Amino acid sequence: MGQSVLTGPFPRIAGELRCGDLRAEELADRFGTPLYVYDLSWIRSRVALFHEAFSDVDHLLAYSVKANGNLSILRALGEMGCGADITSGGELFRALKAGIPADRMVFAGVGKTANEIGYALDEGIFAFNVESRPELERIDRVAAERGVRARFGVRVNPDVFADTPHEYTRTGHAETKFGVPWGTATDLYRWARDREHLAPIGIDVHIGSQIVEPEPYVKAIDRVLELVGELAAEGVELGYLDIGGGYGISYDDKPGMDVAALARDIVPKVKAAGLRLLLEPGRSLVGEAGVLLTRVQYVKETEGKIFVIVDGGMSELIRPSHYGGYHGIEPAGKQGQESATVDVVGPICETGDFLALGRDLPLPSEGDILAVRTVGAYGFAMASNYNGRLRPAEVLVDGADVKVIRRRERFEDLIRGEEGEA
Ligand code: LLP
Repeated sequence: MGQSVLTGPFPRIAGELRCGDLRAEELADRFGTPLYVYDLSWIRSRVALFHEAFSDVDHLLAYSVKANGNLSILRALGEMGCGADITSGGELFRALKAGIPADRMVFAGVGKTANEIGYALDEGIFAFNVESRPELERIDRVAAERGVRARFGVRVNPDVFADTPHEYTRTGHAETKFGVPWGTATDLYRWARDREHLAPIGIDVHIGSQIVEPEPYVKAIDRVLELVGELAAEGVELGYLDIGGGYGISYDDKPGMDVAALARDIVPKVKAAGLRLLLEPGRSLVGEAGVLLTRVQYVKETEGKIFVIVDGGMSELIRPSHYGGYHGIEPAGKQGQESATVDVVGPICETGDFLALGRDLPLPSEGDILAVRTVGAYGFAMASNYNGRLRPAEVLVDGADVKVIRRRERFEDLIRGEEGEA
Protein backbone atom coordinates (compact mmCIF):
# COMPACT_ATOMS: atom_id res chain seq x y z
CA MET A 1 0.00 0.00 0.00
CA GLY A 2 3.08 2.22 0.22
CA GLN A 3 1.99 4.04 3.39
CA SER A 4 1.52 2.20 6.64
CA VAL A 5 0.95 4.95 9.20
CA LEU A 6 -1.68 7.43 8.14
CA THR A 7 -1.55 10.88 9.65
CA GLY A 8 -4.92 11.74 8.18
CA PRO A 9 -7.74 10.19 6.21
CA PHE A 10 -7.89 10.28 2.42
CA PRO A 11 -4.16 10.14 1.62
CA ARG A 12 -2.78 10.56 -1.88
CA ILE A 13 -1.00 7.44 -2.99
CA ALA A 14 0.80 7.30 -6.31
CA GLY A 15 -0.73 10.68 -7.09
CA GLU A 16 -4.31 9.59 -6.54
CA LEU A 17 -6.72 10.31 -3.72
CA ARG A 18 -7.69 7.24 -1.70
CA CYS A 19 -10.72 6.54 0.43
CA GLY A 20 -9.64 3.70 2.67
CA ASP A 21 -8.00 1.24 0.27
CA LEU A 22 -10.07 2.44 -2.68
CA ARG A 23 -9.43 5.09 -5.30
CA ALA A 24 -11.74 8.09 -5.01
CA GLU A 25 -12.25 8.17 -8.78
CA GLU A 26 -13.37 4.57 -8.73
CA LEU A 27 -15.98 5.37 -6.06
CA ALA A 28 -17.24 8.35 -8.07
CA ASP A 29 -17.60 6.16 -11.17
CA ARG A 30 -19.33 3.42 -9.23
CA PHE A 31 -21.74 5.43 -7.10
CA GLY A 32 -22.09 8.65 -9.09
CA THR A 33 -21.54 12.23 -8.02
CA PRO A 34 -21.96 14.32 -5.99
CA LEU A 35 -21.03 11.72 -3.40
CA TYR A 36 -20.26 11.90 0.29
CA VAL A 37 -17.60 9.38 1.32
CA TYR A 38 -16.78 8.71 4.97
CA ASP A 39 -13.81 6.78 6.34
CA LEU A 40 -14.84 4.67 9.32
CA SER A 41 -11.29 3.92 10.42
CA TRP A 42 -10.65 7.64 10.89
CA ILE A 43 -13.79 8.01 13.02
CA ARG A 44 -12.59 5.07 15.11
CA SER A 45 -9.21 6.65 15.63
CA ARG A 46 -10.80 9.95 16.71
CA VAL A 47 -13.04 8.24 19.26
CA ALA A 48 -10.05 6.30 20.56
CA LEU A 49 -8.08 9.54 20.91
CA PHE A 50 -10.82 11.10 23.06
CA HIS A 51 -11.31 7.97 25.19
CA GLU A 52 -7.58 7.73 25.76
CA ALA A 53 -7.15 11.43 26.59
CA PHE A 54 -9.98 11.38 29.14
CA SER A 55 -9.38 7.89 30.49
CA ASP A 56 -8.47 9.16 33.97
CA VAL A 57 -11.96 10.44 34.64
CA ASP A 58 -15.38 8.85 34.41
CA HIS A 59 -16.57 10.25 31.07
CA LEU A 60 -19.18 9.93 28.34
CA LEU A 61 -18.73 11.02 24.75
CA ALA A 62 -22.20 12.21 23.85
CA TYR A 63 -21.69 12.57 20.11
CA SER A 64 -23.45 15.62 18.73
CA VAL A 65 -25.91 14.08 16.30
CA LYS A 66 -26.43 17.33 14.40
CA ALA A 67 -22.95 17.07 12.88
CA ASN A 68 -23.80 13.93 10.94
CA GLY A 69 -26.87 11.90 11.83
CA ASN A 70 -26.57 9.06 9.35
CA LEU A 71 -27.83 5.88 11.02
CA SER A 72 -24.74 3.86 10.12
CA ILE A 73 -22.43 6.48 11.58
CA LEU A 74 -24.56 6.67 14.73
CA ARG A 75 -24.65 2.90 15.02
CA ALA A 76 -20.86 2.68 14.71
CA LEU A 77 -20.36 5.41 17.30
CA GLY A 78 -22.82 3.73 19.67
CA GLU A 79 -20.84 0.51 19.36
CA MET A 80 -17.71 2.46 20.27
CA GLY A 81 -19.38 3.44 23.55
CA CYS A 82 -20.63 6.87 22.54
CA GLY A 83 -23.89 8.39 23.64
CA ALA A 84 -25.68 11.24 21.91
CA ASP A 85 -26.20 14.95 22.29
CA ILE A 86 -29.60 15.48 20.69
CA THR A 87 -31.39 18.65 19.87
CA SER A 88 -34.84 17.57 18.67
CA GLY A 89 -37.33 14.73 18.71
CA GLY A 90 -36.04 13.84 15.25
CA GLU A 91 -32.51 13.38 16.50
CA LEU A 92 -33.79 11.34 19.44
CA PHE A 93 -35.64 9.11 16.97
CA ARG A 94 -32.52 8.69 14.84
CA ALA A 95 -30.23 7.94 17.74
CA LEU A 96 -32.66 5.36 19.18
CA LYS A 97 -33.06 3.73 15.76
CA ALA A 98 -29.30 3.43 15.59
CA GLY A 99 -29.30 1.56 18.90
CA ILE A 100 -27.75 4.21 21.11
CA PRO A 101 -29.11 3.60 24.61
CA ALA A 102 -31.36 6.43 25.82
CA ASP A 103 -29.52 6.57 29.12
CA ARG A 104 -26.50 7.85 27.22
CA MET A 105 -28.35 10.82 25.76
CA VAL A 106 -28.53 14.47 26.71
CA PHE A 107 -31.09 16.81 25.19
CA ALA A 108 -30.08 20.43 24.50
CA GLY A 109 -31.76 23.26 22.62
CA VAL A 110 -33.67 26.42 23.48
CA GLY A 111 -37.04 25.43 22.03
CA LYS A 112 -37.97 21.97 23.29
CA THR A 113 -41.68 21.36 22.73
CA ALA A 114 -43.92 19.53 25.22
CA ASN A 115 -44.12 16.63 22.77
CA GLU A 116 -40.35 16.37 22.51
CA ILE A 117 -39.97 16.53 26.27
CA GLY A 118 -42.60 13.79 26.70
CA TYR A 119 -40.91 11.60 24.09
CA ALA A 120 -37.55 11.99 25.80
CA LEU A 121 -39.04 11.19 29.23
CA ASP A 122 -40.85 8.13 27.88
CA GLU A 123 -37.60 6.85 26.39
CA GLY A 124 -35.68 7.57 29.60
CA ILE A 125 -32.89 9.85 28.42
CA PHE A 126 -30.04 10.54 30.80
CA ALA A 127 -30.74 14.27 31.20
CA PHE A 128 -32.14 17.46 29.74
CA ASN A 129 -29.74 20.34 29.43
CA VAL A 130 -32.12 23.14 30.28
CA GLU A 131 -31.82 26.51 28.60
CA SER A 132 -34.41 28.68 30.42
CA ARG A 133 -36.74 28.98 33.39
CA PRO A 134 -39.93 28.52 31.32
CA GLU A 135 -38.43 25.39 29.77
CA LEU A 136 -37.71 23.92 33.19
CA GLU A 137 -41.28 24.71 34.27
CA ARG A 138 -42.54 22.91 31.19
CA ILE A 139 -40.35 19.88 31.86
CA ASP A 140 -41.70 19.83 35.43
CA ARG A 141 -45.29 19.82 34.11
CA VAL A 142 -44.72 17.13 31.51
CA ALA A 143 -42.89 14.93 34.04
CA ALA A 144 -45.73 15.42 36.55
CA GLU A 145 -48.30 14.31 33.98
CA ARG A 146 -46.34 11.09 33.60
CA GLY A 147 -45.61 10.67 37.28
CA VAL A 148 -41.85 10.56 36.66
CA ARG A 149 -38.84 12.58 37.74
CA ALA A 150 -36.97 14.42 35.02
CA ARG A 151 -33.20 14.51 35.40
CA PHE A 152 -31.63 17.74 34.25
CA GLY A 153 -28.67 20.06 34.27
CA VAL A 154 -28.81 23.78 33.66
CA ARG A 155 -26.93 25.00 30.63
CA VAL A 156 -25.22 28.04 32.00
CA ASN A 157 -23.94 30.78 29.82
CA PRO A 158 -20.47 31.29 31.29
CA ASP A 159 -20.05 34.62 29.48
CA VAL A 160 -16.77 33.47 28.04
CA PHE A 161 -15.84 34.72 24.59
CA ALA A 162 -14.44 31.95 22.42
CA ASP A 163 -12.83 33.04 19.21
CA THR A 164 -14.48 30.87 16.58
CA PRO A 165 -14.01 31.48 12.85
CA HIS A 166 -17.54 32.82 12.44
CA GLU A 167 -19.84 34.78 14.71
CA TYR A 168 -22.67 32.30 14.04
CA THR A 169 -20.75 29.57 15.84
CA ARG A 170 -20.07 31.50 19.08
CA THR A 171 -22.47 30.64 21.87
CA GLY A 172 -20.79 31.25 25.23
CA HIS A 173 -20.96 35.04 25.44
CA ALA A 174 -23.77 36.88 27.16
CA GLU A 175 -25.66 38.09 24.06
CA THR A 176 -26.62 34.73 22.55
CA LYS A 177 -29.93 32.94 22.99
CA PHE A 178 -28.17 29.96 24.56
CA GLY A 179 -28.01 28.98 28.18
CA VAL A 180 -29.19 30.57 31.38
CA PRO A 181 -27.50 33.84 32.32
CA TRP A 182 -24.71 33.31 34.76
CA GLY A 183 -26.37 35.24 37.57
CA THR A 184 -29.68 33.37 37.53
CA ALA A 185 -28.59 29.73 37.32
CA THR A 186 -28.49 29.31 41.10
CA ASP A 187 -32.09 30.50 41.43
CA LEU A 188 -33.17 27.87 38.95
CA TYR A 189 -31.54 25.07 40.93
CA ARG A 190 -33.04 26.44 44.15
CA TRP A 191 -36.48 26.48 42.59
CA ALA A 192 -36.10 22.91 41.31
CA ARG A 193 -34.48 21.50 44.46
CA ASP A 194 -37.63 20.52 46.27
CA ARG A 195 -39.87 19.75 43.35
CA GLU A 196 -41.13 16.20 43.20
CA HIS A 197 -40.79 15.77 39.44
CA LEU A 198 -37.41 17.37 38.92
CA ALA A 199 -33.98 15.95 39.71
CA PRO A 200 -31.11 18.40 39.29
CA ILE A 201 -28.17 16.12 38.55
CA GLY A 202 -25.70 18.14 36.51
CA ILE A 203 -24.55 21.32 34.88
CA ASP A 204 -23.71 22.14 31.29
CA VAL A 205 -21.83 24.65 29.16
CA HIS A 206 -21.22 24.86 25.43
CA ILE A 207 -19.18 27.84 24.36
CA GLY A 208 -19.04 27.55 20.59
CA SER A 209 -17.74 25.58 17.69
CA GLN A 210 -14.38 25.11 15.95
CA ILE A 211 -12.41 26.28 19.00
CA VAL A 212 -8.73 25.33 18.77
CA GLU A 213 -7.35 26.46 22.14
CA PRO A 214 -8.04 24.86 25.55
CA GLU A 215 -8.13 28.23 27.28
CA PRO A 216 -11.81 29.22 26.85
CA TYR A 217 -12.85 25.75 28.06
CA VAL A 218 -10.65 26.07 31.11
CA LYS A 219 -12.11 29.51 31.88
CA ALA A 220 -15.68 28.26 31.46
CA ILE A 221 -15.05 25.18 33.58
CA ASP A 222 -13.45 27.22 36.36
CA ARG A 223 -16.53 29.44 36.49
CA VAL A 224 -18.92 26.51 36.43
CA LEU A 225 -17.05 24.58 39.11
CA GLU A 226 -17.31 27.58 41.37
CA LEU A 227 -21.04 27.41 40.93
CA VAL A 228 -21.03 23.66 41.60
CA GLY A 229 -19.33 24.38 44.93
CA GLU A 230 -21.86 27.05 45.87
CA LEU A 231 -24.74 24.75 45.00
CA ALA A 232 -23.33 21.91 47.07
CA ALA A 233 -23.24 24.28 50.05
CA GLU A 234 -26.97 24.79 49.53
CA GLY A 235 -27.69 21.09 49.39
CA VAL A 236 -27.81 20.68 45.60
CA GLU A 237 -25.29 17.91 44.89
CA LEU A 238 -24.57 17.61 41.20
CA GLY A 239 -23.16 14.50 39.54
CA TYR A 240 -22.13 15.53 36.04
CA LEU A 241 -20.36 18.35 34.28
CA ASP A 242 -21.13 18.58 30.57
CA ILE A 243 -18.60 20.78 28.78
CA GLY A 244 -20.35 20.65 25.41
CA GLY A 245 -18.57 20.26 22.10
CA GLY A 246 -16.83 22.59 19.74
CA TYR A 247 -13.35 21.04 19.61
CA GLY A 248 -11.79 22.40 16.45
CA ILE A 249 -10.30 20.41 13.62
CA SER A 250 -7.86 21.32 10.89
CA TYR A 251 -9.53 22.64 7.74
CA ASP A 252 -6.35 24.10 6.27
CA ASP A 253 -2.78 24.25 7.47
CA LYS A 254 -3.73 25.49 10.95
CA PRO A 255 -3.90 22.73 13.56
CA GLY A 256 -7.10 21.78 15.32
CA MET A 257 -7.61 21.37 19.06
CA ASP A 258 -4.90 19.36 20.82
CA VAL A 259 -7.33 17.03 22.60
CA ALA A 260 -4.66 15.53 24.86
CA ALA A 261 -3.59 19.02 25.99
CA LEU A 262 -7.20 19.96 26.67
CA ALA A 263 -7.63 16.81 28.74
CA ARG A 264 -4.45 17.55 30.72
CA ASP A 265 -5.84 20.97 31.60
CA ILE A 266 -9.30 19.94 32.66
CA VAL A 267 -9.32 16.32 33.85
CA PRO A 268 -7.67 17.09 37.22
CA LYS A 269 -10.25 19.81 37.91
CA VAL A 270 -13.21 17.58 37.11
CA LYS A 271 -11.75 14.69 39.09
CA ALA A 272 -11.12 16.88 42.11
CA ALA A 273 -14.75 17.98 41.97
CA GLY A 274 -15.84 14.33 41.91
CA LEU A 275 -17.95 14.82 38.81
CA ARG A 276 -18.66 12.66 35.80
CA LEU A 277 -17.49 14.42 32.65
CA LEU A 278 -19.70 14.62 29.58
CA LEU A 279 -18.33 15.81 26.26
CA GLU A 280 -20.37 16.53 23.16
CA PRO A 281 -17.95 16.34 20.25
CA GLY A 282 -19.50 16.47 16.80
CA ARG A 283 -17.14 17.89 14.21
CA SER A 284 -14.04 16.57 15.95
CA LEU A 285 -15.17 12.94 15.58
CA VAL A 286 -16.48 12.99 12.01
CA GLY A 287 -15.42 16.21 10.27
CA GLU A 288 -12.11 15.08 8.83
CA ALA A 289 -13.56 11.68 8.03
CA GLY A 290 -15.59 12.92 5.05
CA VAL A 291 -14.94 14.06 1.48
CA LEU A 292 -17.43 15.25 -1.08
CA LEU A 293 -16.66 14.02 -4.58
CA THR A 294 -17.97 16.23 -7.36
CA ARG A 295 -17.59 16.01 -11.11
CA VAL A 296 -16.58 18.97 -13.22
CA GLN A 297 -19.39 19.86 -15.61
CA TYR A 298 -17.93 22.86 -17.35
CA VAL A 299 -14.91 25.11 -17.23
CA LYS A 300 -16.25 28.56 -18.03
CA GLU A 301 -13.93 31.42 -18.77
CA THR A 302 -15.14 34.98 -18.63
CA GLU A 303 -13.06 38.10 -18.78
CA GLY A 304 -10.39 37.65 -16.17
CA LYS A 305 -12.13 34.77 -14.39
CA ILE A 306 -12.26 31.03 -14.58
CA PHE A 307 -15.28 29.25 -13.11
CA VAL A 308 -15.00 25.54 -12.51
CA ILE A 309 -18.63 24.45 -12.44
CA VAL A 310 -19.11 21.19 -10.57
CA ASP A 311 -22.18 19.08 -9.84
CA GLY A 312 -22.28 20.00 -6.16
CA GLY A 313 -22.76 23.38 -4.53
CA MET A 314 -24.50 25.09 -1.62
CA SER A 315 -27.29 22.51 -1.65
CA GLU A 316 -24.74 19.78 -0.84
CA LEU A 317 -22.32 21.84 1.25
CA ILE A 318 -23.45 25.17 2.60
CA ARG A 319 -20.46 25.90 4.85
CA PRO A 320 -18.45 27.99 2.33
CA SER A 321 -21.31 30.36 1.57
CA HIS A 322 -22.97 30.40 5.01
CA TYR A 323 -19.93 30.69 7.28
CA GLY A 324 -17.16 31.57 4.85
CA GLY A 325 -15.88 28.09 5.67
CA TYR A 326 -12.69 26.93 3.99
CA HIS A 327 -12.52 23.42 2.54
CA GLY A 328 -9.50 22.04 0.74
CA ILE A 329 -10.28 21.09 -2.87
CA GLU A 330 -8.12 18.91 -5.07
CA PRO A 331 -8.40 16.75 -8.14
CA ALA A 332 -9.02 13.12 -7.15
CA GLY A 333 -6.86 11.88 -9.99
CA LYS A 334 -3.28 12.62 -10.93
CA GLN A 335 -2.47 16.32 -10.69
CA GLY A 336 -0.60 16.86 -13.93
CA GLN A 337 -2.29 20.02 -15.10
CA GLU A 338 -1.05 23.56 -14.87
CA SER A 339 -2.28 25.61 -11.94
CA ALA A 340 -4.82 28.41 -12.26
CA THR A 341 -6.78 30.64 -9.93
CA VAL A 342 -10.44 29.63 -10.15
CA ASP A 343 -13.83 29.91 -8.47
CA VAL A 344 -15.28 26.47 -7.83
CA VAL A 345 -19.04 26.91 -8.09
CA GLY A 346 -22.18 24.80 -8.16
CA PRO A 347 -25.22 24.74 -10.43
CA ILE A 348 -27.56 26.64 -8.09
CA CYS A 349 -29.05 29.94 -9.23
CA GLU A 350 -27.45 32.05 -6.52
CA THR A 351 -24.28 34.11 -6.61
CA GLY A 352 -23.54 32.72 -3.15
CA ASP A 353 -23.39 29.20 -4.57
CA PHE A 354 -19.71 28.42 -4.34
CA LEU A 355 -17.37 25.90 -2.78
CA ALA A 356 -14.27 28.08 -3.11
CA LEU A 357 -13.43 31.52 -4.45
CA GLY A 358 -10.08 32.53 -5.91
CA ARG A 359 -8.53 29.14 -5.28
CA ASP A 360 -5.29 27.97 -6.90
CA LEU A 361 -5.93 24.55 -8.40
CA PRO A 362 -4.45 22.40 -11.11
CA LEU A 363 -6.87 23.45 -13.84
CA PRO A 364 -9.31 20.58 -14.25
CA SER A 365 -11.18 19.53 -17.39
CA GLU A 366 -14.78 18.57 -17.95
CA GLY A 367 -15.46 15.16 -16.40
CA ASP A 368 -12.66 15.34 -13.80
CA ILE A 369 -13.44 14.55 -10.18
CA LEU A 370 -12.74 17.20 -7.56
CA ALA A 371 -12.66 16.17 -3.92
CA VAL A 372 -13.77 18.63 -1.24
CA ARG A 373 -12.18 17.79 2.08
CA THR A 374 -13.26 17.89 5.72
CA VAL A 375 -16.98 17.67 5.08
CA GLY A 376 -17.91 14.81 7.42
CA ALA A 377 -19.54 17.27 9.82
CA TYR A 378 -22.28 19.75 8.84
CA GLY A 379 -21.99 18.64 5.23
CA PHE A 380 -24.79 16.25 4.36
CA ALA A 381 -26.51 17.23 7.62
CA MET A 382 -27.15 20.71 6.22
CA ALA A 383 -27.84 19.62 2.64
CA SER A 384 -31.12 20.67 1.06
CA ASN A 385 -33.32 20.12 -1.96
CA TYR A 386 -33.15 23.77 -2.98
CA ASN A 387 -33.41 24.24 -6.74
CA GLY A 388 -34.91 20.75 -7.03
CA ARG A 389 -31.60 19.14 -6.15
CA LEU A 390 -31.49 15.48 -5.17
CA ARG A 391 -29.54 14.96 -1.99
CA PRO A 392 -26.43 12.88 -2.71
CA ALA A 393 -25.66 9.32 -1.77
CA GLU A 394 -23.43 8.64 1.23
CA VAL A 395 -20.97 5.77 1.32
CA LEU A 396 -18.93 4.44 4.21
CA VAL A 397 -15.51 3.01 3.56
CA ASP A 398 -13.64 0.75 5.96
CA GLY A 399 -10.34 -0.43 4.48
CA ALA A 400 -11.34 -2.28 1.32
CA ASP A 401 -15.04 -2.44 2.25
CA VAL A 402 -17.51 0.07 0.96
CA LYS A 403 -21.18 0.35 1.75
CA VAL A 404 -23.91 2.72 0.58
CA ILE A 405 -25.31 4.09 3.83
CA ARG A 406 -27.82 6.39 2.16
CA ARG A 407 -29.01 5.99 -1.38
CA ARG A 408 -29.04 8.95 -3.71
CA GLU A 409 -32.43 10.65 -3.74
CA ARG A 410 -34.73 10.20 -6.71
CA PHE A 411 -37.16 12.64 -8.28
CA GLU A 412 -40.03 10.93 -6.43
CA ASP A 413 -38.36 11.82 -3.13
CA LEU A 414 -38.71 15.49 -4.01
CA ILE A 415 -42.50 15.45 -4.00
CA ARG A 416 -43.12 12.89 -1.25
CA GLY A 417 -46.00 14.01 0.95
CA GLU A 418 -47.22 16.69 -1.44
CA GLU A 419 -50.76 16.90 -2.73
CA GLY A 420 -50.76 15.50 -6.26
CA GLU A 421 -47.77 13.21 -5.63
CA ALA A 422 -49.44 10.10 -7.05
N1 LLP B 1 -23.20 20.64 21.85
C1 LLP B 1 -24.03 21.67 21.58
C2 LLP B 1 -24.95 22.12 22.63
C3 LLP B 1 -23.99 22.30 20.33
O1 LLP B 1 -24.81 23.31 20.08
C4 LLP B 1 -23.07 21.85 19.34
C5 LLP B 1 -23.04 22.46 18.01
C6 LLP B 1 -22.23 20.77 19.66
C7 LLP B 1 -22.31 20.20 20.92
C8 LLP B 1 -21.26 20.19 18.68
O2 LLP B 1 -20.31 21.10 18.23
P1 LLP B 1 -19.06 20.59 17.39
O3 LLP B 1 -18.25 19.71 18.29
O4 LLP B 1 -19.57 19.84 16.24
O5 LLP B 1 -18.36 21.84 16.99
N2 LLP B 1 -23.03 24.25 11.32
C9 LLP B 1 -21.86 24.87 11.94
C10 LLP B 1 -21.64 24.39 13.34
C11 LLP B 1 -22.84 24.61 14.23
C12 LLP B 1 -22.65 24.04 15.59
C13 LLP B 1 -23.90 24.02 16.37
N3 LLP B 1 -23.79 23.44 17.67
C14 LLP B 1 -20.65 24.62 11.05
O6 LLP B 1 -20.80 24.04 9.98
O7 LLP B 1 -19.53 25.03 11.39
